[in-house]
Amino acid sequence: MTTNTDNVRIFDTTLRDGEQSPGCSMSPQQKLVMARALAELGVDIIETGFPASSQSDREAMALIAREIRSPTLAVLSRCLPGDIEASLRTLEAAARPRLHLFLSTSPLHRDHKLRMTREQVLESVDRHVRLGRASVDDVEFSPEDATRTEEDFLAEVVKIAIAAGATTINLPDTVGFTTPEEIRGMFSRLIATVPGARDVVFSTHCHNDLGLAVANSLAAIEGGARQVEGSINGIGERAGNCAIEELVMALKVRNAFYRLDTRVDTRRIVPTSQLLQRLVGMPVQRNKAIVGANAFAHESGIHQHGMLRHSGTYEIMRPQDVGWPDTQMVLGRHSGRAAVEARLRALGYLLEEDELKLVFEQFKALCEKQRVVNDSDLQTLMQDASVSQGYRLASMTISDVGGRANALVELSDPEGKRVSETAQGNGPVDALFGALSSATGVQMTLDSYQVHSVGIGTDARGEASLSVRAEGVEYEGTGTAADIIEASALAWLDVANRLLRQRQASPARSETAAA
Ligand code: KIV
Ligand code: ZN
Repeated sequence: MTTNTDNVRIFDTTLRDGEQSPGCSMSPQQKLVMARALAELGVDIIETGFPASSQSDREAMALIAREIRSPTLAVLSRCLPGDIEASLRTLEAAARPRLHLFLSTSPLHRDHKLRMTREQVLESVDRHVRLGRASVDDVEFSPEDATRTEEDFLAEVVKIAIAAGATTINLPDTVGFTTPEEIRGMFSRLIATVPGARDVVFSTHCHNDLGLAVANSLAAIEGGARQVEGSINGIGERAGNCAIEELVMALKVRNAFYRLDTRVDTRRIVPTSQLLQRLVGMPVQRNKAIVGANAFAHESGIHQHGMLRHSGTYEIMRPQDVGWPDTQMVLGRHSGRAAVEARLRALGYLLEEDELKLVFEQFKALCEKQRVVNDSDLQTLMQDASVSQGYRLASMTISDVGGRANALVELSDPEGKRVSETAQGNGPVDALFGALSSATGVQMTLDSYQVHSVGIGTDARGEASLSVRAEGVEYEGTGTAADIIEASALAWLDVANRLLRQRQASPARSETAAA
């Protein structure tokens, strides 16, 4: 097996083969935006278009070449003097220009599309590669439909192209017909036998008609290819091209097997994929490898449990390494207690076993009504489940002492111990809040306080709502009870407990606030 280099070059054809596919066309300005992203991603070559085919492709190349100096810029050209001339004109502005010439070589294409004999094909390859090389040092030649070309004739074509000065030989699987075994063999035989093959870079360009584009590209690499052509999200003619994000991550995750690197900054993969989805208005399916919304999402209880113990149980790469912010634990019908507990903990709720049991039952009931349970659903559940983490009201007495209100409160603290405190105030609520503050050690400034009745007749209950500021943050709390003073105590404790949970969840912030 030959190795021209220990790196695999990534030749991105999102802007040419990708853009050629139905629904994916881009304006010159959009191509420029995408080219910037591809340069940042770290691809080696950007194929910007097919200049002879449209004015828009010529404009795009002019815009891109003016700004993008680092990756090589390639343009596609048929083996026709007029095409080559149009391409060379656009390449003049490029810092690193590459002319990409192609001509069909398979019997089907020769007989029905080109109406050319083998000899005429060989002569055309020789003439046009030489013509290109007269102006550009970097010339790639692609025998279109290579994988359906007789191998002895393909070898002759490749030999002629190399002798005429081609520096890269790309062997396309134009209709996505080959298999990994077959393409590996084709590359290794040609590289081993064609004169001059070891002095050029062999490249693979696989289409995805049988869903094998990435597998075939990897097999071509095993056969000696050191350049892979593909596109972001795998866009391209018909079923698309080799998806670059998948190929790059296969080489990275299975580096011990392939022992080959790329220059791609893999953390830029998801942003680049999302940019393309927005530009062409074509979202990828949720279960698309690497860049689909479900690629790092887990819902089943067994998987979530495993993930909480060790992320390697169900993830072979870190979501951050491809540009996702994090793993996503989707809470829904298939989730288990461990995942619900972990999410509640992240929200600041530390539950006892019996409390978790109760909340989990209610969570399961909610999952019967909705597919996904999000954070605000969980918070509502916590309130409804009367699992008041933190201080709970055990009893309270309000009396009048010499014209001043006196409150005595007894609470059970987060560890279950009893604490009681008294306080005097200008009225029962003032005294009550003073006693609660002494018992919990929580200070807050009241912004608004409202009570109203919910329900009617003997079922009516008082509901108190508070809006307060504490430690620089605004909180709201509610409490409901038969008696409005008790409802007020519950609302106050609702806020205090939330604040205490917040302190536990992010001690740094509360320390700063306290300071
Ligand atoms: O699929 C193909 O054969 C091509 C060539 C023009 C490289 O896109
Ligand atoms: Zn193609």
